[in-house]
Amino acid sequence: MKVLGLETSCDETGLAIFDSEQINNDNQGLVGQVLYSQIELHALYGGVVPELASRDHIRKLVPLLNELLEQCDMSKNDIDAIAYTKGPGLIGALMTGALFGRSLAYGLDIPAIGIHHMEGHLLAPLMGANPPAFPFVSLLVSGGHTLLIAAHGVGQYEILGESIDDAAGECFDKAAKMLGLPYPGGPNIAKLAEAGNPDAYALPRPMLHRGLDFSFSGMKTAVHNLIKDTAGSDSDPQIRADIAASFQHAVVDTLVKKCVKALKQAGMSRLVIAGGVSANTHLREMLEAELAKINATVHYAPPALCTDNGAMIAYAGFERLQAGQSDDLAVSCIPRWPMTELPAV
Ligand code: KG4
Ligand code: ZN
Repeated sequence: MKVLGLETSCDETGLAIFDSEQINNDNQGLVGQVLYSQIELHALYGGVVPELASRDHIRKLVPLLNELLEQCDMSKNDIDAIAYTKGPGLIGALMTGALFGRSLAYGLDIPAIGIHHMEGHLLAPLMGANPPAFPFVSLLVSGGHTLLIAAHGVGQYEILGESIDDAAGECFDKAAKMLGLPYPGGPNIAKLAEAGNPDAYALPRPMLHRGLDFSFSGMKTAVHNLIKDTAGSDSDPQIRADIAASFQHAVVDTLVKKCVKALKQAGMSRLVIAGGVSANTHLREMLEAELAKINATVHYAPPALCTDNGAMIAYAGFERLQAGQSDDLAVSCIPRWPMTELPAV
């Protein structure tokens, strides 16, 4: 089954074609993908402007689809089904991809399905020839969400813990801004941290001994104070690198400790990490080392499938479509959508 995936929940227009009959070790079943980031469009305003995001998705969807089909050497008629992001996200941005996908599917007389953006992230590491088997613990760390989930199957998600305030990615973005680094903050902090000492400054490990929930808003204040005390943002490059490394280590250390705790609590031995922050090399390396000590394994997607993309939506769509699920002609998007409300497969 060849599924076209459309992602337009925020500031990236992502399109991809997944083919369940072409899964091998090298390509994860991905026939092709295109991604357009609106970062420059919103940079001037210091954050995503919803109306501008929607208008830009509309401008880009048709040319990107043409580019994708050319890349895949396919025509529209070769597509068997369409999956689009139905929520959570910016309502206007969601509606552009949903209406485009739903009407294209109607025109082609093929099924369409609306996908939960975070389920797309969660399932992305399962694309490929040797996916980790259910059940597993999933750490979902993106710009808007920080969740620990016991995943018993597709659509069978039990929330073990979540952030009570800022998301982990948001925390990276805010710390980056304080250090004068551009958006998205995560990769820029990670790059600066390469030359720094992770133990240079002691930063808090919030809520470590309180269940499986997270809190990252205090980290912001701690980094702010540290920068003030060291004149970090415009001082010595080594101090800046040390701040970045210490900050990254504090966030990663907190995430790793909670993951170990979640695995023990759920009695599971596989951890799957997903979402933008799961591209972080320090997080991956620390999890590999710590989980080896408890005979558990960590699984993740290639970096390009960790951040927002159309491939994860195509793949999640395939999982549901092959189980006989699809949406009718009415298009409804859901800006806030708990994952526990998803139907099981
Ligand atoms: O999943 P994603 O692309 O979009 C959302 O659904 O939010 O996640 C974006 C987030 C941003 O906060 C970005 O700073 C963070 O992921 N991120 C990273 C890295 N790459 C992206 N954080 C830490 N290290 C990275 N290498
Ligand atoms: Zn995302």
